[in-house]
Amino acid sequence: MRPQRIVVLGGTGFVGSQLLPRLRADGHEILALSRNLTGHHELLRTPGVTWRSLDVYDRNKLVDALRGADTVINLVGILNEKGRDGSGFQRAHVELAEVVIAGCKAAGVDRLLQMSALNAGRGQSHYLRTRGEAEAQIKASRLDWTIFQPSVIFGPGDGLYNRFAGLLRPLPCLPLACADTKFAPVYVGDVVEAFARALARPESVGQSYELYGPRVLSLRDIVRQTAKALGRRRLVIPLPDALARLQALCLDFVPGKPFSSDNYRSLQTDSVGGIDGLFRLGITPKDPADFVDAIVARSPRQRRLDHDRLPR
Ligand SMILES: NC(=O)c1ccc[n+]([C@@H]2O[C@H](COP(=O)([O-])OP(=O)(O)OC[C@H]3O[C@@H](n4cnc5c(N)ncnc54)[C@H](OP(=O)(O)O)[C@@H]3O)[C@@H](O)[C@H]2O)c1
Repeated sequence: MRPQRIVVLGGTGFVGSQLLPRLRADGHEILALSRNLTGHHELLRTPGVTWRSLDVYDRNKLVDALRGADTVINLVGILNEKGRDGSGFQRAHVELAEVVIAGCKAAGVDRLLQMSALNAGRGQSHYLRTRGEAEAQIKASRLDWTIFQPSVIFGPGDGLYNRFAGLLRPLPCLPLACADTKFAPVYVGDVVEAFARALARPESVGQSYELYGPRVLSLRDIVRQTAKALGRRRLVIPLPDALARLQALCLDFVPGKPFSSDNYRSLQTDSVGGIDGLFRLGITPKDPADFVDAIVARSPRQRRLDHDRLPR
């Protein structure tokens, strides 16, 4: 494959920080756009990546950044918004997708790789609804698109095992909402490999890839795995539905939203897939059990990612 000029949005995040070096390994030239580069000193040293601080919603500036690129990769997404009416999700997912599509067309970029999520467009949450709307726009765009729909992603710096580790360290017991909801956690290294391979394969144009791991785990299983990796005995108390809803409602108003009503609504649907896109791309998915110990070892990078995920 000939090296491409690639523009990445959302490259400062958990997935982006693994994707950029993976793309560089294939010789691609990368321009990474960020709303705010403050505090990303380590990432800014990623060899061969040019960084630009930019308001990604500014059409003119975005078009300027996209000129001359072969491909755009949009990793931007949020799990929680500042308010509760869905407008934050609408902006980060749907409005940004619109701006990116228009930017690609104006700058003459045909290829767009879009990060989405399993169950996009299903259920009652603003998160999944806006994911679905963004996907619909991209599919109607006439660009050469590829969409990735991962289950929850695990790996160093994740917001899954690290989040539960942060709760389990100080607490003797954990009241857990939606304890039986199922996931098939997918390794971040497999996710970025999927992007790299899709880029190299023309047949990935017009395809959506569900990305999930080899094990189906309930939220309760994931919490237990985390406690075991921490070497702590912790009581996990599954909450009945009414209490789960109440917990979400209360935490809606806690700064940083450790859990929210929108998370509760997303968790009404199991995050497990049908046909694994990893296999379609020739990737053997990795088992989270082999990684949990290393993941919960806390790092400065983790603290930075946790801080950056706070809704604002
Ligand atoms: N992690 C998972 O388990 C998981 C599962 C399924 C799908 N996904 C999706 O995969 C993508 C990457 O996930 P991630 O875990 O790497 O996310 P992340 O660590 O939260 O990073 C996302 C990036 O998006 C940018 N961003 C955040 N809010 C924004 C906003 N309101 N407007 C514009 N840009 C914004 C930020 O970049 P700047 O601040 O530098 O601009 C941030 O670095 C997201 O779309 C996420 O929804 C993740």
